[in-house]
Amino acid sequence: MSNAQRILITAALPYANAPIHLGHLAGAYLPADIYARFQRLRGRDVLFLCGSDEHGVAITLAADKEKVPPEVIVDRYHTMDKEAFEKFGMTFDNYSRTSIPLHHATALEFLLDFHRRGILTEKNEKQLYDEKANMFLPDRYVEGTCPVCGNTDARGDQCEQCGTFLDPLQLLNPRSKITGDTPVVRETTHLYFPLGAYQARLEEYVQKSDEADGWKENVLQYCRGWFKEGLEDRAVTRDLNWGVKIPLPGYEKKVVYVWFDAVLGYISSAKEWALRVGRPDAWKDYWLRPDTKYVAFIGKDNVVFHTIVFPAMLMAWNDGGGDRYVLPANVPANEFLNYKGQKFSKSRGWGIDLQDFLGKYPADPLRYSLAAGLPEYRDSDFTWKDFQARNNNELADILGNFINRTLAFAVRAFDNAVPARGPMGELDRGILSLLEGTPPAAAEAYEHYRFRDGLMEVMNLARGANKYFNDSEPWKTVKSDPARCATTINISLQIARALALLMSPVIPGACERIWRMLDIPGEAARGSWDSAGESALQAGHRLGTAGILFTKIEESMIESDSVVPPGPPALPPGAAPEKITIDDFRKVDLRVGKVLRCEPVAKSEKLLKLQVEVGTEQRQIIAGVARHYRPEDLVGKLVVVVFNLRPATMMKEESHGMVLAASDAAGKLVIVSPESAVESGASVK
Ligand code: MF3
Ligand code: ZN
Repeated sequence: MSNAQRILITAALPYANAPIHLGHLAGAYLPADIYARFQRLRGRDVLFLCGSDEHGVAITLAADKEKVPPEVIVDRYHTMDKEAFEKFGMTFDNYSRTSIPLHHATALEFLLDFHRRGILTEKNEKQLYDEKANMFLPDRYVEGTCPVCGNTDARGDQCEQCGTFLDPLQLLNPRSKITGDTPVVRETTHLYFPLGAYQARLEEYVQKSDEADGWKENVLQYCRGWFKEGLEDRAVTRDLNWGVKIPLPGYEKKVVYVWFDAVLGYISSAKEWALRVGRPDAWKDYWLRPDTKYVAFIGKDNVVFHTIVFPAMLMAWNDGGGDRYVLPANVPANEFLNYKGQKFSKSRGWGIDLQDFLGKYPADPLRYSLAAGLPEYRDSDFTWKDFQARNNNELADILGNFINRTLAFAVRAFDNAVPARGPMGELDRGILSLLEGTPPAAAEAYEHYRFRDGLMEVMNLARGANKYFNDSEPWKTVKSDPARCATTINISLQIARALALLMSPVIPGACERIWRMLDIPGEAARGSWDSAGESALQAGHRLGTAGILFTKIEESMIESDSVVPPGPPALPPGAAPEKITIDDFRKVDLRVGKVLRCEPVAKSEKLLKLQVEVGTEQRQIIAGVARHYRPEDLVGKLVVVVFNLRPATMMKEESHGMVLAASDAAGKLVIVSPESAVESGASVK
């Protein structure tokens, strides 16, 4: 182990119930990765951890919806998310999952220790019970009428219409999401963690940590709100059969509450990493040493669990007199990134998922455009126009252009080597001072979790360098004053090297390419941030081969930002679709459906809301055909449905599937229907 400052970095463990989307990246993962890469460049001893959160109602609900066991869901999304993260360039030292025995053991170690030490109290509470399904209903398994606003579809934990936090017992006319029956009230027993008993210490912890490391205002606001309301005991067990099982009498049918185990997943991920690198105790060097700096990156909806619940759990453990864990020194939570004015949401299927995005564009421009517009202080919006502009006008026209013209000049005028510096003038001294000032200025921002500002400092260097190149006019001085020309190109090459180092936390792929174009040994990602301001390239150093760094994104390649109802997928004019194999085609589950009911969608001119019977299932599907069909035209019609399309939300309506249609010569949409009567549910091949 080195003597460098140890920094433990975690990023919220995403639920393994849906693909990672751009909202997650902007909220927690990209800032965490930029920070980890930056700290490695500064020579810090970094351990960067994440993993899948595989327990809780989020998972069982997804499983119930698909009628598969929870294992199927978590295996699918754990693999998918892990791969997508890798493709995006996340540099986790370990990506774990909470379903592994090592994690169950860690969670129980805490729970049983608290139980043994009398920290937990047992209480009876009333809870809704589904007599047909024979189970207690977790809050999200109940729906009913909101007592505050009368919304008939309020969830057991919250009414999405008026925002009120609810207890399932407060719902009027509750119904079970499993059987649809009216649940009954029964008594159940749970273990409670006395959060209130830690309030004074937590307030002090938040205040001290803020003083030491400057917490973000939005995070402090949330904390103050919770403290003001007063912390209450929290149940740490649940009536559910998916999660960490509890070996205590009376708890055979219960599991540990998902948030209690999830935050401990950060510890198990460290243990798993230590085993994998063959030093089973190495995790302790990070978790159990008071001089480790622990930074927990999350999105704003996770604040209370990381600034209050988790620290209280660690305090409770540390009070036991054995090992002492470090508490987060900072919890830099971002606000949300929205898409077309609405929050990205996995459960509502709204947004752009990472896997899809990376199928079309490389990771660098996505990382760059997200980083430049991170929702650090308030919600921000992802737009395709902005993505395109960041790529074309900034990455390609500023950064790419500077690197390419510099290298092109070195090939042409200096035999592809670094020319020796000649006499220096005003311009040269000016840009060199910007070069020297940039690493500390950007570092100052990154150290304080101001990633947009830090990136702006670095891009200012690229901007300044372009201007320097222009103003120095090397294409003239190459003939009139070759020594000055050599100075210009020498300095430009030094800046190219600096940019490869300083941009590498944000656009690692492009920076490694710059590194190779400059033919510097090793990797930019293993270079030294603090050396970036130096003129480290020696005169005579031979350069590599220049190549394209960023490709411009044409208008026709990006999606439109206006809200489009899903109609038939439009191909750009003249474009031939990519060839697919029969196996690709088999991935699309096409079924015959029968339209049972159909009505217009409020405030939409284009959309109709269809209730479609597909075999034994009934699906709500939103179709963009209101201009072409009257609702009554469709009732009773047989249609072809894309049955395994991920659910999406349009104009606040859930759409689960898609109806096939074709445009005729006049642009009218014509719905595809079997030529003669076929049973609904029949598969279309
Ligand atoms: N799974 C949670 C979510 O997606 C985050 C859990 S963070 C952890 O909102 F710390 F608890 F793991
Ligand atoms: Zn309400």
